[in-house]
Amino acid sequence: MTRGRVLVTGGAGYIGSHTCKALARAGIEPVVYDDLSNGHAEAVRWGPLIQGDVRDRDRLAGAMSSHAVSGVIHFAGLIEVGRSMHRPDLYWDHNVNGVAAVLSAMRSADVGRLIFSSTAAVYGTPAGLSALSETDVLNPINPYGDSKLAGEKMIAASCVAFGLEAVALRYFNASGADPEGELGEAHDPETHLIPLAIEAALTGSRPLTVFGQDFPTTDGSCVRDYIHVADLARAHVLALGLDTISRGFEAMNLGRGRGTSVLDVIEAVGRACGRPPAYAVGPRRAGDPPILVADPARAMKRLNWAPEFADFQAIVDTAVAWRRSRRFDASTPLPAAA
Ligand code: UFG
Repeated sequence: MTRGRVLVTGGAGYIGSHTCKALARAGIEPVVYDDLSNGHAEAVRWGPLIQGDVRDRDRLAGAMSSHAVSGVIHFAGLIEVGRSMHRPDLYWDHNVNGVAAVLSAMRSADVGRLIFSSTAAVYGTPAGLSALSETDVLNPINPYGDSKLAGEKMIAASCVAFGLEAVALRYFNASGADPEGELGEAHDPETHLIPLAIEAALTGSRPLTVFGQDFPTTDGSCVRDYIHVADLARAHVLALGLDTISRGFEAMNLGRGRGTSVLDVIEAVGRACGRPPAYAVGPRRAGDPPILVADPARAMKRLNWAPEFADFQAIVDTAVAWRRSRRFDASTPLPAAA
């Protein structure tokens, strides 16, 4: 039975497509709005696809009205920390103007609830080594984090001024693939650590570069909190269904609360693939903080949510299984992307 419809911007992408599958499973029809610049039409399987630019306010409003959606999940945006250092102009344009257009369209179509894709990058470089909670200082160190924090602030202000209700979900590192093998991670070009490490292990086509081994961490490489994409997807459905949203706007961390270093990732990928990826240590990548680990207590309590993939190796295994299931030639469409 369908329990309403939701507009999902960026629903043809990696986290977006997994969330559409989770919505459909919960009886909610996802109406995908995507320009297919990074997403793939093949990944839109649980509702209609409207092709459009997320900065196109009128097209967004039309999509919301004509499909009579009761909420919006806003994924569409640019996501690469490294690239944001070189093209800050694009990040401010897409990520900030995208939120402005979504908010304006929601007002004119009279849609009252928004779930926003935010990021751990809003915290910048944590002062200590402990896990980050939502009350920690927000001080991004790259234009990607700046643009996402600006989006959160714009949304929070709209909640106060216009009575919108919104949840900003601050993802730590999305990883893994649909356990049923329908969807996975495939950006073009790929810049994320896990898919690159898998590629290096399975094909040996391009050796991996570890971006810096002189960080103040146990093994010198960067530490991140990898969270399975299906666990992220489930959290969106739960946030959408919250009875009340405190003072109209809440931000929540989504992570496992455990740190994994780049070298740990390489080892786990080697185990899953049956041979280690070749790698070389290179210089640091601009904009990378040494450690980002979530304290997910608020999301666990408010959403009654807990990651089902608690074990990092199990996350990597799903990513490797999905990659192995794909034939790799230029004509094969990718099931999902950013
Ligand atoms: N890394 C390498 N070599 C590579 C690629 C990455 O050493 O070839 C390292 C990075 O320096 C970083 C870690 O692996 O320390 C993870 O890097 P990713 O590029 O996979 O992911 P990021 O941490 O940069 O960013 C991701 C998402 C963001 C999100 C962030 C939250 O892309 O959208 O996680 O922590 F905000």
